[in-house]
Amino acid sequence: MSTNVEHFDHWVRSTFAELNTQLEEHYFAQDDRARVAGVGEDLKARLKAEGNEHIARLLAEGNTDEGFDAGFDLLGNVGLFMAACARHGAADQHAKDGGLPEASALALQLGASLGVTPRFATSHLTTHNRAVEGRYKSFTTLRDEYLFTDYNTRGILSYKRAGDALLRVLPLGVSHPVAADLLRAARDALGAVVVSNERLFAELDMDRFFYSVRPYFKPHRVGQHVYRGANAGDFAGINVIDMLLGLCRADHAYYSQLLVDKFLYMMPEDQVILRDCMRRRSLMDDFLALDEDERRREPCRENLALFLELCELHGQTAAQHHDQLVAKFIEEPAQHMDQEHHDKLTASGPPLPVLLRALARLRDLRQAADRDDIPSRYADIRKLRESLR
Ligand code: HEM
Repeated sequence: MSTNVEHFDHWVRSTFAELNTQLEEHYFAQDDRARVAGVGEDLKARLKAEGNEHIARLLAEGNTDEGFDAGFDLLGNVGLFMAACARHGAADQHAKDGGLPEASALALQLGASLGVTPRFATSHLTTHNRAVEGRYKSFTTLRDEYLFTDYNTRGILSYKRAGDALLRVLPLGVSHPVAADLLRAARDALGAVVVSNERLFAELDMDRFFYSVRPYFKPHRVGQHVYRGANAGDFAGINVIDMLLGLCRADHAYYSQLLVDKFLYMMPEDQVILRDCMRRRSLMDDFLALDEDERRREPCRENLALFLELCELHGQTAAQHHDQLVAKFIEEPAQHMDQEHHDKLTASGPPLPVLLRALARLRDLRQAADRDDIPSRYADIRKLRESLR
């Protein structure tokens, strides 16, 4: 790590988080907690000036080519800085370089060379966020930001474990006696997502999340384009589970559009996994391709029972996400927020009702709901259940 990179990293881990925290305390103390204009202008000016100074030195230093990890980590730091400036209204989102020309230039160079989007992604804060003396990088030092990140990290790692186990079933086939071990591992991992979601739901403070954490995850401009915000879904594992279980299909335009849109928000290794998985046949289709007698015979029968349990659990985590997390931490507080701030609500940009409909559709696909306006596997799941009677 060059000295300039080291100094910038130290700044992000200290002054940056302190200034953001102070600004959040100012906003949160107001009657209209969503108002940022005209509040803490001296703190914002310091944040912007100090961040820009670090970045200008890094740009002048040029490409030191210290490998993917170092470049990705630096992109995360530039990205956190740009997202914070956008959150505080300290960057001109209408200017063609986002009002942060040096940061835009560095982020674009890094993103393009690494094969990822030129902004911070979820992995920068969760799975690829190194802790120093027990503390990892964050926008603020608020309890609720740490809670949110901890549980996002746990959820993502558990989904990844489930996805990894399912991928290993493919070469064995659904009637292999050892496939049950892998299906059990996937089941336990999804069980861990359920527990982690329950805890997040119970422990996170609604207002603190809504007013002081969520705003850092909005779209912002880098160079000429606006890039959507980061969300906890920007890793391959969740879609690997969707597609290998067969609940969502890559040959359906709605779902493949969602995949196409998220590729560059994922780590390159996740991009490879997802691309490969899009070409595979699902375990559900493998079970359906067997005749009834074969499905009823052991060890296939046990595998099918585990498979159906997995589908159930995947649907349950999707319902938790939509009916509990999104409802409590976005939908409900949004109802109490002044209408003038509603345009800045979502991480991907569309108005909240449009986003909620899209998320509900995903939940219903994952639950194999009884809907004929979407390609739900309701009938196929029923058929497979019959085989166990
Ligand atoms: C996407 C809210 C926690 C997984 C989203 C989106 C919202 C949201 C609003 C859509 C982003 C957009 O396009 O604007 C929340 C809230 C949470 C939370 C309020 C907690 C307070 C989690 C956790 C996970 C998770 C713990 C587990 C890994 C996902 C996934 C997506 C997503 C996978 C992408 C869409 C999908 O495939 O379902 N979340 N989320 N979220 N979130 Fe969360």
